[in-house]
Amino acid sequence: MSNTPVTIVEADPEMIARVLPLLNGTQAKYAQTAAGFTLFALQPNASPSVPPVNVDTSAKPVGLLAVEIRNLPEPLADITEAFINIIEVDEPLRRRAIASRMIGIAAARARERGASQLRAWTSHDKTAALAMWHRLGFCLCPATERFNGEEVRVFYVVLRV
Ligand SMILES: CC(C)(COP(=O)(O)OP(=O)(O)OC[C@H]1O[C@@H](n2cnc3c(N)ncnc32)[C@H](O)[C@@H]1OP(=O)(O)O)[C@@H](O)C(=O)NCCC(=O)NCCS
Repeated sequence: MSNTPVTIVEADPEMIARVLPLLNGTQAKYAQTAAGFTLFALQPNASPSVPPVNVDTSAKPVGLLAVEIRNLPEPLADITEAFINIIEVDEPLRRRAIASRMIGIAAARARERGASQLRAWTSHDKTAALAMWHRLGFCLCPATERFNGEEVRVFYVVLRV
């Protein structure tokens, strides 16, 4: 729906500190600005019981994308990439292009900060995410990783920015 009143903002440390109590453990772990940037999708606050995130808009976060800017390993350490540690949109607001908008902004920010690619990974069971990466033009590279001793089928996804 094109009229969804959701705005995408780049968080500063003060905003992250304010939002932190509203985030789950994984979201809180990755929301940062030190090594990259974090985008929030903010919806105007319909309910006064929700703590305001931004004093001006009194908005609450309904989406999150956190990126780390880093160099590739040797022998490609002079190449910078932007790695998406987390991207999530609240379930009731999915399929309204919120993630697509956040990724578009992340690609532009990554380029501004010297990155030549925007990368992420998704486990094989996250079919919505896989469809999204493909739709947004990311290349999909299948791989098998071990997490906590368990083999997991994943797809690395990457877009030149
Ligand atoms: C994946 C996720 C971030 C997508 O967010 P979203 O705001 O709903 O995505 P968008 O509306 O921008 O979707 C863009 C395109 O991706 C594809 N897509 C997204 N969700 C889809 C679904 N459930 N089924 C099929 N295709 C889907 C569609 O092509 C869609 O375009 P369309 O709606 O015009 O057909 C969201 O589903 C989510 O938070 N999932 C749980 C967390 C997660 O899996 N994160 C990714 C881990 S890498």
